[in-house]
Amino acid sequence: MSDRKIIANCTLATPLGNSAKKGKEMKELRVLHDAFVFIEDGIIKATGQMQDLEILGLSGTADWIDAKGRVVLPGFVDSHTHLVFGGFRPDEFEWRLKGDSYMSIMQRGGGIQSTVNATRETSKEDLVRRAEWFIDRMVEMGVTTVEAKSGYGLDLDTELKMLEALDELAKKEDKKIDLIATFLGAHAVPKEYEGRTGEYCDFIINEVLPKVKDKAEFFDIFTEKNVFEIEDSRRLLQAAKDAGMKLKLHADEIVQLGGAELAAEMGAVSADHLLHVSDEGIARMAEAGVVATLLPLTAFALKEPYAPARKFIDGGCAVALATDLNPGSCFSGSIPLTIALACIYMKMSIEEVITALTLNGAAAIGLADSIGSVEPGKKANLLILDFDNINFLPYYVAMNCVNTTIWHGKTVYERKEIR
Ligand code: NIG
Ligand code: FE
Repeated sequence: MSDRKIIANCTLATPLGNSAKKGKEMKELRVLHDAFVFIEDGIIKATGQMQDLEILGLSGTADWIDAKGRVVLPGFVDSHTHLVFGGFRPDEFEWRLKGDSYMSIMQRGGGIQSTVNATRETSKEDLVRRAEWFIDRMVEMGVTTVEAKSGYGLDLDTELKMLEALDELAKKEDKKIDLIATFLGAHAVPKEYEGRTGEYCDFIINEVLPKVKDKAEFFDIFTEKNVFEIEDSRRLLQAAKDAGMKLKLHADEIVQLGGAELAAEMGAVSADHLLHVSDEGIARMAEAGVVATLLPLTAFALKEPYAPARKFIDGGCAVALATDLNPGSCFSGSIPLTIALACIYMKMSIEEVITALTLNGAAAIGLADSIGSVEPGKKANLLILDFDNINFLPYYVAMNCVNTTIWHGKTVYERKEIR
């Protein structure tokens, strides 16, 4: 017997399609009142209006979940996180509050290097256990797919340990989320290679890449002034591309360096952060179809200006939103605050925000054909909100509106109802 479920009496709100929505298309949600979603063995088989259930011969054949008019959305895709790491860095946050800058702390040997030291000391089992704690919080906020990066090892053994931890999380029997792994060996130049960036690039290309290329979907790099500048970045990205990996970049995060232009030149799937992107970079990304993954929590936590979301959307780009959860620049995985910042400060409409957190997030990790929208053939990853109107998402400021999270057709989180 197949496992059949009907989510009945819902307000279904979803983007449609199997690829990223660009520019104006981002606001085109399908909103259907008195709707149902029919799920069989974890896959969405049909959607429509309640009155059509009988005609389709579907009523009475499945378990019912009565949504009582509330909104059903696709599960959120958090397409940029650093979920696996050892230690914490609360002192750095305090230094920053007192006026220190993210890059000056990094240049003194703190920042990423401090988490590298801690991660090298942490066992794989502990990395898995710590990551699961964060995953539980994500599931409560409606995340059904998460991308997670290595990049706190910066030596072969620890990079492999991080990727193995991600693989274990992905294979857990009782898991509640899908994971996509990214190799971020080019996150910083580790202290052993201080002043020898070129040699560290050689090490990544010759010693690490061949051993990790089949253990991660994506290659990512921190393209930044005094970290990996354009020439080193191009060389690393080309090597990763030659090894068959798909590309992502941390681009134009702290200063404008031409990271967006490089992402377009290299045919990256996404360029992320982009707080200081140039107009030229936006135009090139739109032309090349690179997803702009914007991370407002990081801008908020670093007290930096937000990425120019409107320029990206009005310039015809596909924008995704993600949390950037990490122990340094952004120790937060808050989807509700991401939504609030995107609507209030980045001037995105709630329809654009929903597309950015679902279908475009899926596109940013190469999965737009199987997740990111509620339509037949896609995985049954969906959310029931507490309310009957999508405008509650920004209006209930920075608060969680997710009542139920359904992953592969299974209820993996459920909260008490409001009434
Ligand atoms: O996305 N900027 C580089 N990487 C992370 C921060 C990592 C850290 O501070 O530990 C980011 O902001
Ligand atoms: Fe990041």
